[in-house]
Formats: sequence, structure tokens, C-alpha cells
Amino acid sequence: MEKTLVNIAYLISASLFIFGLKNLSHPKTAVRGNLLGATGMLIAVVVTLLDKRIVDFSLIIAGLIVGALIGTVLALKVQMTAMPQLVAIFNGLGGGASTLVAGSALFGSATESLPYDFMTATVASALIGSVTLFGSIVAFGKLQGLIKERPVRYSGEQLVKASVAGITLVLGYFLITTPEMKFLFWAIVFLSSVLGILLTIAIGGADMPVVIALLNSYSGLAASATGFVLGNNALIISGSLVGASGIILTNLMCKAMNRSLTNVLFGGFGEVAKTEDDIYEGKVKATSPEEVALLLEGARRVVIVPGYGMAVAQAQFPVRDLFNLLESRGTEVEFGIHPVAGRMPGHMNVLLAEVDIPYEKMKELEEINPTFEQTDVVIVIGANDVVNPLSQTDPKSPIAGMPVLEVWKAKTVIVIKRSLSPGFAGIPNPLFAMDNTMMLFADAKKAVQEIVNALKES
Ligand code: TAP
Repeated sequence: MEKTLVNIAYLISASLFIFGLKNLSHPKTAVRGNLLGATGMLIAVVVTLLDKRIVDFSLIIAGLIVGALIGTVLALKVQMTAMPQLVAIFNGLGGGASTLVAGSALFGSATESLPYDFMTATVASALIGSVTLFGSIVAFGKLQGLIKERPVRYSGEQLVKASVAGITLVLGYFLITTPEMKFLFWAIVFLSSVLGILLTIAIGGADMPVVIALLNSYSGLAASATGFVLGNNALIISGSLVGASGIILTNLMCKAMNRSLTNVLFGGFGEVAKTEDDIYEGKVKATSPEEVALLLEGARRVVIVPGYGMAVAQAQFPVRDLFNLLESRGTEVEFGIHPVAGRMPGHMNVLLAEVDIPYEKMKELEEINPTFEQTDVVIVIGANDVVNPLSQTDPKSPIAGMPVLEVWKAKTVIVIKRSLSPGFAGIPNPLFAMDNTMMLFADAKKAVQEIVNALKES
């Protein structure tokens, strides 16, 4: 296929990726954004296949069938709550695929025809791709509860990591300068995999949002490096876009948690926490759906704060009914959305949009926090870490410094959850023991439904 035509087609797909990303930045246009990105990818794949004059499509078709089958089953089966794990493993597979493709280009080329730029890109792809694959496997394990969420720390930890990284870079230098030593590729893959594990097991559960965004960015960088290996412009551009958007997301997540990236990667948070008995003993008050309905009847302004538990319980449907009912009675209702509520960026917005809650009712942290003092009732539905005042009072807490929704400033706070058990960060929450807080111990869906019924009957 004519080189110019191929590049024009790649330019079109790159433009579609960029417009797709732009559209993905708002829930209203996100579906269109997805379609644009997918169309761009289809063009890039078809043009690449035609350009490479594939002689035998049988392996490609077999791969397509197996991949499509696995993808379809996963998309149908995976619960919304397990989406972050799925994203983590997708990132990892992207990194692993980039490494293997770069490796096959290396082993498939005659040693004399291996210039510096090719070798540098191959080493970069092996290094970043393997860190991404094994880092993502650990992140998956932590999110799935297969590996303990607490950071694994040991003495000399930074030295161990720096040594592994240092040796990998030295081997990379040798491979670039002496391409005959192709076997070094596998040594780099092995050491980078170890590095990926070491870097991620050291990060606590509470910082996982940052890690997933960062691994997403790495997978893009690995793909981009492989694009240089293959001399494929579409892969270079799409990889760079994923790398750049992943870094922007990492930055947003760091801001949301008031952490610097170095602090997340090398900081030692996550080990010390106040015990539950210190905080809760004799101070927690339980309430009932009927009592909550009575409170809501007299409220002029209500703020609903959803969290991971709303997603688990699929409580967004009765939450919509509660919202409609309160609004129809003239109560002002808004939603306070924390940027890391749930288990993936935008998790709460997606669930609320699914049940047609108007976007203008979903307020971000900076917007809603100043309004809590004028709020009669806050209903916290399955949220925990994002409303935990310890972030402001305990500098040793895993969430220290993370901006939280200051719900305790409202007149009354109702917290709906099943028990006093902690959230993702694994720490107790003094909010549950505050004077103006009442706990409604129940499954979120059932509890909100019962509140709606009680309100209707009143
Ligand atoms: P969490 O702090 O994880 O708390 C969720 C609470 O929901 C739990 O305490 C649990 O208490 C309750 N719950 C679970 N199932 C429930 C059900 N069926 N009905 C009622 N309650 C239920 O959630 P959050 O406040 O949304 O904070 C998010 C946390 O996840 C943060 O630490 C954040 O850093 C982390 N994280 C976020 C992301 C992103 S990007 N959003 C990604 C990874 C990790 P009971 O068991 O007592 O019911």
C-alpha cells in the first residue's frame, strides 16, 4: 500500500483518537467519544494489516476469535464493582503485549541491521512493558483481595528497588551497544517484572487509584516504544496519547488525595491507625428508616454522598426514587461526589447518570464542602474513606491529607452501611461516633427503599 496513503489513514485514526478523548471528558458525550476512538482503532488495524501484506491470516483470525470470546465473556460477566481490577489487568496485558511484540521484532531481525534507535526502543518497551504487566498483576491481586492491601515494607527497601532498576538499566545499555547479546532481552524482562512487583506491593490500598492511573500511562508508553521498534506511526501516536492521558489522570488522582507522586511511590503511609475501640466505644447511635424519613420530612436541604457501598448494593435505583420524592416535596437535594469515591474515576457519576440524575445536581468536592454548614441532613450511602475526618486529624493515617467531604458540618448525618467495618483504606472512621451522626445499619439498596416507603406513607 502506498506509504502516503497509509500515513494519511494513520493521521485520520490519530485525529479520531484525539476527538474521542475530548468527548470522553464529559459523561454526556462519552459514548460518542468511545465510538470515535473505536473507529480510529478499526481504521488503524485494517490499514496496518493491508500495509503489511499479510500472507496468511489464519493465526490473526484465531487470535481475533479467542480474544473476542474472552472479551465478550468478561464484559458480560464482570460486575461494575470489579471494573477497576479489569482495567488493571487490561493495562497489564497491554504492557505485556508491547514487550512480546518488541521481543519478536528483535529476535526476528538480523543482528547487523539493529541500529541504536531500534535497540533503545526495544529496551524501553521490554522495561516499561514488563513493569506494567507485573505491577498490574499485583494491583489486580490487591483490588481483588487476593493480596493484602497494606503496603509491604522492609528495611533497605529503596536500596533493593534502586539496585534492581540500576542493574536493569546497565543490562539495557549493554543490549543497546552490543545487539549480538540478544539473550539480555529476557534478563531485562525478568528484572523489570521483579521491579514491577516490588514497586506495587509497597503501595497501600488507599493509593491504588493513583497506581492504576500510572500503570495505564505506562502501558501507553510501552506501546509507543513498540511503535518506534516497528516504525508504526499509529502505534507511536496512540501509545503517546494513552501515556499522556494516563499521566493527566495520575496527576488528578494525586491532587484528589493530596499526595505527590513520589510520596505515593516511596512514602511509608498505611501502617499506623487508631484502634476501633478508641473511636467507637459507647458513642455510636443506630437509627431506623422511619426515623430517617421523619428527619427528611423536616429538611429544607439534603445532600446525598454516595460511595463504593452504593455500587455494591446497586442502590442507585432507589436513590433516584428518593431524590425524585424529596424534590417533588420541595426539598433541595444535591449529590456530593468525591473524586476517588468507589473504585474507579467517575464511578459514582456513571452510576447516578445511569438512573438519570441531572449532571448539575452532582457537585464536586470543592463545590459541595462549603455548603455542608447550611445542610439539614446528609445521607452517606456506602461511603467511608471519602468522609473520614482522620484525614485532617491523624498525620499517620493512610489517608492523611486527602481532601474529604466534610459532611460532619451538616446538622445531621445519616450513614447507611451494614456494619462498622472499615472502607478500602482499612481504618476506623470517627464520623460514625460523632454527636450529630446516626448509623442506619443495612444493605444500602434495602435501606434507601425503606426510607422511600416510609416517606411515602408519612
Ligand atoms: P470505602 O471507603 O471503600 O467504603 C465503602 C463502604 O461501603 C464500606 O465501609 C462498606 O461498609 C460499605 N458497603 C459495602 N457494601 C455495602 C452494601 N451492600 N450496603 C451498604 N454499604 C455497603 O468507599 P468510598 O468511601 O467510596 O472510598 C473509596 C475508597 O476506595 C478510597 O479509599 C479510595 O482511595 C479507594 N479506591 C478508589 C479508587 C477510585 S479511582 N475511585 C480506586 C481504587 C481504590 P460495610 O461493610 O459495613 O457495609
